[in-house]
Amino acid sequence: MSGRFHEVTIIVNGEDVRERIDARTTLVDFLREELALTGSHVGCEHGVCGACSVRVDGVVVRGCLMLAVQCDGSRVDTIEGVADSGEIADLQQAFIARNALQCGYCTPGMVLTAQELLARGGVPSREQIRAHLSGNYCRCTGYQSIVDAVQATARARADGKQ
Ligand code: FES
Ligand code: FES
Repeated sequence: MSGRFHEVTIIVNGEDVRERIDARTTLVDFLREELALTGSHVGCEHGVCGACSVRVDGVVVRGCLMLAVQCDGSRVDTIEGVADSGEIADLQQAFIARNALQCGYCTPGMVLTAQELLARGGVPSREQIRAHLSGNYCRCTGYQSIVDAVQATARARADGKQ
């Protein structure tokens, strides 16, 4: 690639998106400002808080540390797409049931990251859940209820109750 603007094709939530993108645009800014997918939030903008988490080719990444042009040819799934698929319906319900969100700013990133752990199967310990979520900051909940919600979802899935 050379020059400032690039034609890229990204599969966003299952749909091909072809856009001319400024090379400096971060993935999270592209999703929010060009595609109006505002579920991914912008917090610290330097890779610390996890509010901008999205999946790229199945792996949760920081949307503020990745450039949109780097995703040319990749599949990007945002909280909107993952929620619409029903994949995290039980986890979302568990967050609501345990008051694992207050302002909700961290929640999309928290849920996506938790789902990454849950998708491995089994029932992780509280320590494992905390370690996996350690890159996602919450200013409101004190984390206890978030860990409760994730562990309850893991138990329910393991028992086949999802
Ligand atoms: S906004 Fe990306 S990690 Fe904080
Ligand atoms: S619910 Fe407010 S930052 Fe987590």
